Amino acid sequence: MSELDDQKALDRIDRSGMRELLKRFPEQLSRAWDLEAELPAFRQIIVCGMGGSAIGGDYLRVYLARKGFPRPVFVVRGYELPPFTDEETLVFAVSYSGNTEETLHCFEQALRCRSPIVAITSGGKLAGMARESKADLISIPKGLPPRAALGYLFIPMLRSLKPFLQDLEAEFQETLNILHRITSLYAEAPEEENPAKRLARAWHGRIPLICGSFLLTDAVARRWKTQINENAKSPAFYSALPELHHNELMGWERLKQFVYALLRDPAEEPKLKRRFELTRSLLEERGCTVMEFQGEGRGLLARLLSLSYLGDWASFYLAMLYGVDPTPVALIEELKARLAR
Ligand code: F6R
Repeated sequence: MSELDDQKALDRIDRSGMRELLKRFPEQLSRAWDLEAELPAFRQIIVCGMGGSAIGGDYLRVYLARKGFPRPVFVVRGYELPPFTDEETLVFAVSYSGNTEETLHCFEQALRCRSPIVAITSGGKLAGMARESKADLISIPKGLPPRAALGYLFIPMLRSLKPFLQDLEAEFQETLNILHRITSLYAEAPEEENPAKRLARAWHGRIPLICGSFLLTDAVARRWKTQINENAKSPAFYSALPELHHNELMGWERLKQFVYALLRDPAEEPKLKRRFELTRSLLEERGCTVMEFQGEGRGLLARLLSLSYLGDWASFYLAMLYGVDPTPVALIEELKARLAR
């Protein structure tokens, strides 16, 4: 029997219970659907946040662009809002803990710019600042690692934009149905039938490279990379086509220890399809392991979130193969503590 199929052994490694949180992700999405803010008029959107609190901004940016939403969306992972931030810029300030200094700094800047602000947080300083300044506050449950709160950190932004998005409700329903179905596959199926376990096996002892495509699966590629980093405590890198064809492929001269995961989507333009096919052939000719994945669903939301969820589970199983508890991120905590001194 594969060690990934020995539930008792997995529980001994997963001491802090990441598996349970992953299993409950579809339920989290349903709860998150009830959280929304009433939005004022706006011309553009900025989502500011870091790490697990920022990735929902990228999912939003991709989703809105592909739906033809005619206003720009920017994701700010840093201390500074762009100089074009003004009173017609809707700012989502997202921090799970509410204590991330970059996001707090952006929040203060947004106040000075008189931007309408929606804070999304489980508490901390951000909740206090939002209450004090009478900014909109979406309070989400405490007690999760931020990266396991993606539903709460992403869905309320989308839900608040529902008046602009036809089909959102139907797409959301489809997403839930698909996620409920694949949860049992990823959580329970033995290794030979379980894509998440097989992917983890391919990554074990090697360096995962994740390749998405511009403004489609690139955000999911970033999520896979960060989930591998934080859950499995492993290096991983992500990139996107077509940009990869203009630089990254030159590194293929020294390829052997890498595993490429190509994140595909049926909405790829024909030129991109061709580039993915070529990428695959060139990599295989060099003896590199290449795997392709695609989200499930007719709607983009379901495809993005189901593909994202596969990366969550695969990074979890990679942590199991490395024998590390996925939940603690000691070095991130230590760094934050040192910065605060
Ligand atoms: C930890 C995690 C980190 C945090 C990041 C920002 O699970 O995912 O990437 O999200 O350090 O902290 P928060 O989310 O509290 O603003």
